[in-house]
Order: sequence, then structure tokens, then C-alpha cells
Amino acid sequence: MDHFRRLYPDIHMKDLVVEEMGPGRLVRILGRQVVNFGSDSFLGLDQDPRVQQSIIDGVGKWGTHNGSSRMFASVEANVRAEEKIAAWLGLEAALIFPSVTLVNAGAIPGLVTKTDVIIADEFAHNSIQEGIKIARSNGSRAFVFRHNDVAHLEETLVLARPYQHALITIDGVYSMSGELPPFQQIDEIARRHDAILYVDDAHGTGVLGRHGRGAVLDVLEKTDNLFAIGSLSKAFSCLGGFVGCPREFHDLLKCRSNSYIFGGPVPPCYLEAVCTVIDILHSAEYDLLQSRLSNNVAHLAAGAQSHGYQVLGGHTPIVSLLIGDEEATLKAGRFVFDRGYYVQSVTFPAVPYHAGVLRIQVNANHEPEQIAGLLDVLGEWSVHLEQSDEHQAA
Ligand SMILES: Cc1ncc(COP(=O)(O)O)c(C=O)c1O
Repeated sequence: MDHFRRLYPDIHMKDLVVEEMGPGRLVRILGRQVVNFGSDSFLGLDQDPRVQQSIIDGVGKWGTHNGSSRMFASVEANVRAEEKIAAWLGLEAALIFPSVTLVNAGAIPGLVTKTDVIIADEFAHNSIQEGIKIARSNGSRAFVFRHNDVAHLEETLVLARPYQHALITIDGVYSMSGELPPFQQIDEIARRHDAILYVDDAHGTGVLGRHGRGAVLDVLEKTDNLFAIGSLSKAFSCLGGFVGCPREFHDLLKCRSNSYIFGGPVPPCYLEAVCTVIDILHSAEYDLLQSRLSNNVAHLAAGAQSHGYQVLGGHTPIVSLLIGDEEATLKAGRFVFDRGYYVQSVTFPAVPYHAGVLRIQVNANHEPEQIAGLLDVLGEWSVHLEQSDEHQAA
């Protein structure tokens, strides 16, 4: 923060305060009302009256928080939400944590012992890396394989022997690049090497797969070897993270994940809202929401390309436009903001050095005119850049 404040006091858009939200996707930041293209609420369910009402009714029924670790007692809404998640995923069981970060901090160290190893994709999410640090400090061994490189994954498994079990930890969707892992090949390697697959699909939840079940479940034939982690805070617009898995894995997680045992739960009102969201995802309405979202993503990505931007991603509603240099990325974000649109300027270390991007999160309830308006401004920025290049050359 200090770096940004010192070097870019007038253009950086970090550490912002949102002063007001709504209606629709409007927000007020720095006293200015702008269209918000920085929200993970991909299906727009944060604004859905049924989801909002479930939270209100949930507070009436359960109070604001039940205030007890689930090791002592879970509210019935928690059990109901987990049963609904498992049925929606088509898996035997599900376990809810207060966030995906806490899933990774609890489940990863909880699942391995000193005779097991963890093998992680080098670009796995930061919270997976943090979970691995805890596992390492407990005496488990951990190795990294090159991003999405299945040959290197197999070499690493061979190198890591002897072990009892291996846990292969990957993202379901790499949210900074939009890439998907080669699930089938990784699963096939896992089965040959006594390894279990652990997929953090936080960004795929609600957005990819049949009825939004995520990136991995539709692809794998068998799921007896899989931990499928999903988010309840992004497309779900509620709060929390979950692990979907076979029943025996679930029982193991319950008694070995410290963040589950020693931490508090998701407040019950949010669990009521999770049940409502699953009903929406499971219904025919999902196709409508998903097609609105896909149309918005396609409109934005095609428009940005036509303005000459290199567009990264495409599998999820995160459309990243490569800008490059840190200062240029911050300037672009500020230019867009000053014209009525908020997008995130992402710079090192979240992306490689000199590979800054404008990260645009598209929602199903963005109006087509809002997408068109953002594209006009992005067009203005590319003209502005061309003119300043010509000016410098002259
Ligand atoms: C792959 C992945 N895992 C975990 C998280 C963190 O999720 P949470 O906010 O539920 O802790 C994110 C957030 O963006 C993510 O992309």
C-alpha cells in the first residue's frame, strides 16, 4: 500500500472503500457512482430478492449467529445445506467451512501425515500454498510440479517415493489466466500413483459444468478419489467454502481439520441462503442465468479484442486484458474509473512482473448497455495510448 501511495498517489485504485451499493451493479467509490465490474457475484444473486429474503428470514429464525464450534453442535440449516450441496454435486457428502481459505488451511494439513506427500501445481492458489506450509511444519513433505505439466507431475510423484499416499493439489480454474487443468490426465496419473486429487474450484462453482457444479465433476468418470472444493462466497453470493467428497473422506475431514474443529461456523442465516441458491442452480432457471452471463462475457471479450486488447481467460466470467507495466496498468484502471466503470488493476505479485492486467468480472445482471459503455471507454484508452506512442515517436 505504501509503495502505491508513494509512487502513484493520484492513480492507484487499491484499498478502496465502497460507500454505497446498488441498485443493480452500481456502486459509489471515492464519491463517484460507477458500474461495478469488480464483483465475484457472477450470477448476480447478491441482488436476488429470494436470496436476500432467506438471509432476513434466517436471522429471524436463528439470530445473527449461533456462536458455537460445529464440533459441539451444528444448526439444522447446516446439515440441510450440506445434504443439498452433496445432492447437487452428485457426491456422497459435503462439509462446509467459513471460507475456502479455511478449507485449505484445515483440510490440506489434516489429510496428510508424515508418511504422505503433497504435490502442488506451482500456480495453485495462495491459500493452497498456505495450507501446505502448515502441513510441512507438521512434518509432511511437499513438492511442486510445473504448471499444468502432467509429465512433470508424474516425474515428481516418482521422485517423492516412498510415501503412503500423495495429495495432488490444483486449482479447478486458474483465475488470473482463466486456464483449466488437464483433469482426466491428472486423475489417471493420480490413480496409478496412490494419489488423491484435491481440486480448489472456487472460481468454477456456480459458473461451470452442469447446473454450475464446477469445472471438474462433469469431466471425471469416477469421483471416489476426489476432494472437490467450492466457494459459497463468489457465484453463490453467500458465505463460506465446501468440500464435496466420498463419505469416508468427509468423516476423516471432520475429525482432522483444525480450522473446522477450532473455528466458528458460517452464520445460519447464510446457510439458509445457500439452500435457496442451490434450489435456483438445480432448477431450469439456471440455464437462463448462465446464458445471460455467457452472452455478457462473449460481448465483452469480443469487443475488447476488436479494440486491440490481448484478452486472457474465457472459461470463467473473469476477462483479463493484458496491459503490461505496473504504472500503465494503474493508469488504465484510473482512466476507466474516471469515466464511470470500476475494474481491478492487477499487478505483481498477483501476476508476473510487467504482466499487469485489467481484471474485469462480468455478472449475469450487467445490462448490455453497461458492457457497451465499458467497451467504449476501453476503446478510448487504446486510442489514447496510440496517440501518446505517436507523440513520443515524433
Ligand atoms: C482458487 C481460490 N481458492 C480460494 C480462494 C479464497 O476463497 P475465500 O474467499 O472463500 O477464502 C480464492 C479467492 O479468490 C480462489 O480463487
